Formats: sequence, C-alpha cells, structure tokens
Amino acid sequence: MSRITAFGTYVPEKIIDNHYFEQFIDTNDEWIESRTGIKTRRFAKDGEYASDLSVKAVENLMANSGADVSDVDFIVVCTTSPDQPMPNTASRVQYKLGIKNAGCNDIYAACAGFVYGIQMAHGFVNSGVYKKVLVIGSEALSKIMDLKDRTSCILFGDGAGAVLIEPSEDEHFMAFNSGTNGDFGHDLYLSHKKNSINGVGINPNGKIIQNGRSVFKWAVGNIPIKIKELVEKAGMTLDDLDYIVPHSANLRIIEAIAKNLDYPMSKIPQSVTDFGNTSSASIPLAIAKSVANGGIKKGDIVLMIGFGGGLTFAGTIVKW
Ligand code: UT7
Repeated sequence: MSRITAFGTYVPEKIIDNHYFEQFIDTNDEWIESRTGIKTRRFAKDGEYASDLSVKAVENLMANSGADVSDVDFIVVCTTSPDQPMPNTASRVQYKLGIKNAGCNDIYAACAGFVYGIQMAHGFVNSGVYKKVLVIGSEALSKIMDLKDRTSCILFGDGAGAVLIEPSEDEHFMAFNSGTNGDFGHDLYLSHKKNSINGVGINPNGKIIQNGRSVFKWAVGNIPIKIKELVEKAGMTLDDLDYIVPHSANLRIIEAIAKNLDYPMSKIPQSVTDFGNTSSASIPLAIAKSVANGGIKKGDIVLMIGFGGGLTFAGTIVKW
C-alpha cells in the first residue's frame, strides 16, 4: 500500500502576459483570454531546462515537508520537453540533487504524463520493487513552441510539480484508469523527422503542432466519461470526491467537463489562468494553488486526470 508523502512545485520567474504575443503574431489579449482563460504564463530563462525546474520543485517539496530525498530509489520525470532526448531528464535530476542510488526514467506522455508517473510509482511501491519514488511533472515548453504559429504558441507555459510516493499502512490510491486513441496521433505532435502519423505527412520542425479544434472535441467528448468510469471503478459517486483536477489545457474544456458532470467549478482547481497549459505540470500546479488558497487539504479525496498528445489520458483517485 502507498501514499503521497510530500509535494512541491515551481514556476520560473519570467511572467509573460497575452500582449507579449501581439508584437509578432496576429492575435490579441481579448481573443486569448476568451478562448482559453489564460491571462499569463511563465517562461524559463535561457539555459533553464526541465531538469532545472524539476530540481526547484523538489527543493520546494523538501521545504514544504521536511522530506529527505537522498535515499530515493527511483526518479520518474514526466515531460514532453526534456533537456535532450538522451540522457533522460530524470538522470539530470539525480545528478543535480546528488541522489546516490536511484534508477531513472522519463515518461513521455505529454499532458497525461504526471498521472502516468503516479501510476508507475504506485506499481513500484506496492510491488516492493522500490520503496521511495520521486515523480516529477516538468515542462520547459517555451523551448519547443512555434512562435510563428498563433494557434498554439499562445497556449503553453513552463513549470514543474513533484510528489514523493512511499509505502503506507493504508492504501491512499483508490482507482486508476488510462486509455489511448492513437488514431488522433497526428492532431498533436512534435517531430524532428520527416515522417508520417496515421499516413498523414507531418511537419518536422521540432516544435509542437496541434489541431486544437480536434483535440478540444476529443477532450470534451471523452474526459467526462472517463471521470465517471474512474469514480465507478473506485466504488464511489461524484459526491464522494472533494475535488476533480483535470489537466489545465483550456478553461473552456474545464467548464465543459464541469457542465457535463453537473459538478461545481469551485471544486475543480485549475492552473491555466495563471500559468497557461503546462502539460505534465498543470495538475500539480493546480493542486498547489488550491492548497495555498485553503482548498485541498490532507485527507481530501482528489480525482486527477491528465489528457493530451497520443491522444492519451490517465486518471487516479487519491486520498491527499
Ligand atoms: O494540452 C494538450 C491538449 N490540448 C488541448 O486540450 C487544446 C485543445 N484546444 C484548444 O484549447 C482550442 O482549440 C484552442 C484554444 C487551441 C483554439 O480555440 P478554438 O476556439 O478551437 O479556435 P479555432 O481553432 O476554432 O479558431 C477560431 C478562429 C480561427 O479563425 P477563422 O478560421 O474562424 O477565421 C483561427 O484562425 O480563431 C483564429 N485563431 C486566432 N485568432 C486570434 C486561432 N488562433 C488565434 C489567435 N489569435 N491566437
């Protein structure tokens, strides 16, 4: 049995408002805020990468909890914007934090990454394979966004969140689910290679490319169903949940999920307004904001569900 024993987050200092984009693309503050809910996002500095943001989030985790990470035996970094393809970002975090004896791996599942990381850590701890697992969702998306593409660059931001998962006398994870529609793979991708996805030739510019309308429709059509299935799997009803934390992709997607489930927005923490779409960091950033505002507290029942590039999703229900 396992639980989350510590939690921390970090966002870079540089605040970027919507007017910033008006300098070089045909857009405006009103369009961005009304279509996405985003007011600001953070961009990492030159030379600041996903591993650096990860280290800061873990430092925050240690400051919040007094946890010692020197004996962590596995590090999972969930990212879609790794420092580089090899070595993996988790290995950079191991080195930078001076952790002596940890296996390291990255999960590359875009905005669903953080919950996939939690699922993997839960499996490791509950099977006894590892005892103390650090799961980090970290993104430096500003390095891989196409600043010439007005349909996507206005969406993304940088940040990181970390949890420590350890054995527990009682089980804090109540259910998991995941699933994938690879048939939408070409609607959200990043590639350096002249290749095709589902027979569709793709642009190898090494930047994020998205068919926003298609992803939006998929998320709004599927995520409420997957939330209901997850709640049912846990033997619960929506009333048993204290909070639902979906990936913060777009405030309109979150509002559509709330409407579909007839669930109050006040119980759906989000990070998109302040930080934009931070992919695998968006769920921990939403939780941190809620905790800071007196929302999520120890013992609350929290459903998290990430979704994005794949298109893939992953969910869990956890006693915080
Ligand atoms: O995190 C991973 C998962 N990702 C998501 O969940 C993202 C899902 N998609 C979205 O959030 C939304 O689809 C977007 C925010 C990306 C776009 O919003 P939308 O309401 O779906 O807009 P649209 O793509 O239907 O475009 C509407 C219009 C178009 O003009 P026309 O064809 O109607 O003349 C676009 O060219 O808005 C135009 N447009 C813009 N106008 C000003 C697109 N981007 C911009 C822009 N500024 N930045």
